Amino acid sequence: MDNELDPKVEQLNSLKAETLACQNCHLRAGCQGVVFGEGDPLSPIVFVGEGPGQTEDELGRPFVGKAGQLLDRILEAVELPRNTVYITNIVKCRPANNRTPTLEEMKYCLPWLRDQFRILRPHFMVLLGLAATHGILAPDLKMNQVHGQWFERGGVQMMPTYHPAAILRNSNLKRPAWEDFKEISRAVKAFKAENKV
Ligand code: URA
Repeated sequence: MDNELDPKVEQLNSLKAETLACQNCHLRAGCQGVVFGEGDPLSPIVFVGEGPGQTEDELGRPFVGKAGQLLDRILEAVELPRNTVYITNIVKCRPANNRTPTLEEMKYCLPWLRDQFRILRPHFMVLLGLAATHGILAPDLKMNQVHGQWFERGGVQMMPTYHPAAILRNSNLKRPAWEDFKEISRAVKAFKAENKV
């Protein structure tokens, strides 16, 4: 394990242990467990979804249900395989019946995400769907107006794009989402080439 990876893994493990014990809001009482996130701690890119669904809640891993399988296929297709990125959610506990988390629930959970970012220090962040976009960028944004654009916040390049579950529901979103993911992959490849990572 190289020098940079070692402390990040340790810090993530201890943050994960704290997060798994979280009881800060009522969501924890309605789910099986906290889903922390996973992936390459040295990746320059983090994907942020909405919150665990039923499969994620059962398995304790993000994006492993139907939407996750689509995300995996898209990432593979743009040559950014899942094991080369980091994936997490804006809320770490499953909202009952897969409803969208409220802004208040997101606010309760955001400190965990901030701590994850402090450790991961990603260069890019992809906001999958409106919940992550509203919770992280601004609560009044419309996906059809902002998807595919980079927003710089505190030195991080953030792009909102369609949530894979939305793409599964509406095939008209496939094309614009595909263009967004191609741009994401282009940007990551350029960053890696520039920084020799
Ligand atoms: N949808 C999300 O937003 N996150 C997951 O982890 C799974 C489905």
